[in-house]
Amino acid sequence: MEPNVTKFDLIILGASGFTGKYVLKEALKFLNNNQSFSSFNSIAIAGRNPTKLAQTLIWASKPNPPPSLPILLADTTNPPSLRSLCSQTNLILNCVGPFRHHGDPVVAACVDSGCDYIDISGEPEFMERMEVSYHDRAVERGSLVVSGCGFDSVPAELGLLYNSLQWVGPSVVNRVEAYVSLESEKRIVGNFATYESAVLGVANASKLQQLRRSRPKRRPRPMIPGPSPTKGETIEHQKKIGLWAVMLPSADASVVRRTLSTLTEKPKGLPGSNESPEMVEKREAFWSSVKPAHFGVKIGSKSLLGILRITMIGIFIGLLGSTSFGRRLLLNFPSFFSLGLFRKNGPSNEEVESASFKMWFVGQGFNNENLASQVNAKPDMEIITRVTGPEVGYVSTPIILVQCALILLSQRNNLPKGGVYTPGIVFGPTDLQQRLQQNGISFDIISKNTISS
Ligand SMILES: NC(=O)c1ccc[n+]([C@@H]2O[C@H](COP(=O)([O-])OP(=O)(O)OC[C@H]3O[C@@H](n4cnc5c(N)ncnc54)[C@H](OP(=O)(O)O)[C@@H]3O)[C@@H](O)[C@H]2O)c1
Repeated sequence: MEPNVTKFDLIILGASGFTGKYVLKEALKFLNNNQSFSSFNSIAIAGRNPTKLAQTLIWASKPNPPPSLPILLADTTNPPSLRSLCSQTNLILNCVGPFRHHGDPVVAACVDSGCDYIDISGEPEFMERMEVSYHDRAVERGSLVVSGCGFDSVPAELGLLYNSLQWVGPSVVNRVEAYVSLESEKRIVGNFATYESAVLGVANASKLQQLRRSRPKRRPRPMIPGPSPTKGETIEHQKKIGLWAVMLPSADASVVRRTLSTLTEKPKGLPGSNESPEMVEKREAFWSSVKPAHFGVKIGSKSLLGILRITMIGIFIGLLGSTSFGRRLLLNFPSFFSLGLFRKNGPSNEEVESASFKMWFVGQGFNNENLASQVNAKPDMEIITRVTGPEVGYVSTPIILVQCALILLSQRNNLPKGGVYTPGIVFGPTDLQQRLQQNGISFDIISKNTISS
């Protein structure tokens, strides 16, 4: 690009990937659509294979003819190509994963050039490593870096905030357990790269612990009224929402904890780079209404058999993922070891279109804050909320990523100048929830009840 030529609003890196192509399809809906706050003026796509990118553009534009988007060459193993991308745009949407392998050089290039970065990573070790490695420099350079702007971890982040906001004083929330349920009339299938990211996550679990231990300062923990929840049963039957459930070792709980930790450090949230007084008031009012809670995530199924199948996949990945021979087996035979949940060539269009998700948030707390401080206090109040939406990986994730991008571009002054942050702390006080509702991801209150211990 010539000097002084206006930069692209955004570049989608990895647009030729399984998720990238759906992200491009979603982003094209907002290209020059004449609504001032919901429009991209210019989009470019980038990756290592121009032919594949051109074919992707044709696929993503259907049934319309493809618009003439610039196709840029960039490879994550070639830092100058990434720096060149960053010099041409305000924002990179990174869809190249596993992020553990490919993400670091992209974040480094964005931070160095001062452009903004969002991605669809669901890998806690990568996210926390980026915060440790690049936060200070991102603040200095005015580059805003937000990982996890897909199904991992926005429904969890906004869903927890939504539940928390239903607890009106003097009531207080103590714990929120989220239950994810994936539904479909056809098979539920994910693409190989997500499975690979999960396998690599297990293989490198000790690196995340090392990283956390190596931080010079422990992150502050929020003050949560009442006792810490006990561990509970491995397989739970949640009768109220009709699900059997087991713990889901996804990124969600750790991302939410980081958001609550940042909020503990900065109870009024993160000031925008050039906020209006109205926005300052709105942001401070928002965060003062949020009450932190203990948070966990479980995966649910309507049948015990469904939950045993998920447990079996977890056992395979857990046992085999820690040795290189086991990993080779897992990665060579994804359909076998995931019992059909992941495939090398991903789901068909029909499988994507017929799938949906429900994420229930069962919040328990106290009718009155004073009760929470009593010895042996047991929650006496329950508020259940729910986030629902279309298929998680290739419909909801693109919707979320694209809405985060639209907010970043249209409301930049209201967001922190730079730094590496979680989606909740950056987008919580914005209109992201309303935007998601307008685009098919809803937030609902299901019930508010008194409970007996
Ligand atoms: N947050 C969520 O809920 C969510 C949802 C879906 C996916 N994901 C994550 O997104 C990531 C991608 O998943 P996917 O299924 O879309 O994977 P994929 O189909 O394998 O796509 C990977 C993309 O990365 C590109 N790429 C690979 N190596 C590259 C390199 N060295 N330089 C530049 N580009 C490179 C590929 O380019 P080529 O086309 O040239 O091979 C392709 O465009 C995974 O980590 C997955 O876990 C997260």
